[in-house]
Amino acid sequence: MQVCIKNIRVIDPSQNKDVIENIFIKDGNIVTAPLTNNSMKIINGKDKIAIPGLIDIHSHLREPGQESKETICSGTKSAASGGITTVFCMPNTEPVIDNAQLVEFIIFKAKTEGIINVFPIGCATKGSKGTLLADIGMLKQAGVVAISDDGLPINNSMIMRCVLEYTKMFDLPFISHSENTDLSKHGVMNEGINSTILGLRGIPKQAEEVMISRDIMLAQLTGSHLHVAHVSTAGAVDLIRNAKKQGINVTAETCPHYFTLTDDVVRLYDTNTKVNPPLRNKEDIEAIKYGLLDGTIDCICTDHAPHTKDEKNKEFDLAPFGIIGFETLLNLVLSELVYTGILSLTQAISKMTYNPAKIFNLKGRGSLIQGNVADITIIDPNYIYKFNEDNIISKSKNSPFIGKTFKGKVVMTIVSGRIVYHI
Ligand code: DOR
Repeated sequence: MQVCIKNIRVIDPSQNKDVIENIFIKDGNIVTAPLTNNSMKIINGKDKIAIPGLIDIHSHLREPGQESKETICSGTKSAASGGITTVFCMPNTEPVIDNAQLVEFIIFKAKTEGIINVFPIGCATKGSKGTLLADIGMLKQAGVVAISDDGLPINNSMIMRCVLEYTKMFDLPFISHSENTDLSKHGVMNEGINSTILGLRGIPKQAEEVMISRDIMLAQLTGSHLHVAHVSTAGAVDLIRNAKKQGINVTAETCPHYFTLTDDVVRLYDTNTKVNPPLRNKEDIEAIKYGLLDGTIDCICTDHAPHTKDEKNKEFDLAPFGIIGFETLLNLVLSELVYTGILSLTQAISKMTYNPAKIFNLKGRGSLIQGNVADITIIDPNYIYKFNEDNIISKSKNSPFIGKTFKGKVVMTIVSGRIVYHI
């Protein structure tokens, strides 16, 4: 199968490219030479933008065990509609992904039912309980791209040290869910004036920062690659910036909700604003934006965390933490970072394509250079649309952005040369 995307504005951060040209695809890969076959499919790229397919390194696809929230099938369809061509899925499923058989199950399901690339992340500890190490070597052999107990921290520092020693041995990044549960216990939102007004128990920023400090120290001790998940505070950005300056092997990600919403939105007791770590303050948003600009924060991901209506339709205290994110990722990046002039389009796209591919060693992805897999996202930058519950493709609807109008939309998603989504 041969495809030509004609006269499209191509933005490829890996080559610092921003030009109008044709993209040629042959047998699922990007090729440079013009094709000379009559059966070639032509896609008109006029007034559209082509970027490398988005890589979302943090999501919860909920399969196995929580299929009422999401499945690999529904989750990958939702992601494709958001322009995502590769997702990493966290292992906090039921059961958790702490052995090779379950990794193989995810890979098999993704191949048979998924419509985009799915790369599993394996647990650091057995049952994600933080006490006994999972078989990290076997998980790697089975195909995981990283190790994490996301959703839960590893409280015991000796276990954490051992996890880092093993992830280093098997050349895998460790993704830390940085939360000191002694400090965050029973908390349901950011600690501050709003939690006081609402009468809800708060989670101090220090719950995140104490753990990041420890993990940076242990990364220094072991020389392992520490990737800090869902950065939400200004203090966390400073810690990571300083660690990078010292040459410690640390990378970091944040999610759109941490640079768009403050805990003011919790005031309506909307459980769709309940997320862990919680939404913070204006100064944290500013620091995160600056951290994205100066390179302290390498990646933007979704932490897509679907929960059913029944689960979220509870008192704030009782509802689960989590926000869906696949279908608003690009829009929020465009509206909050690009249209506001904080990042150039190239810088912003790099955080969702080239950087994650480089950090997680995804060969042949994250860039549109010749020979790479043809994972491509096409955007119509002038398309205006309202994000309604009715147009959400994910099984779950727990988004605080419902009702928001966006400019710019993914109009086509291509995975290995195949169109998996178009409007
Ligand atoms: O809000 C969150 N939801 N944060 C996490 O760390 C886990 C996630 C989930 O699995 O629902």
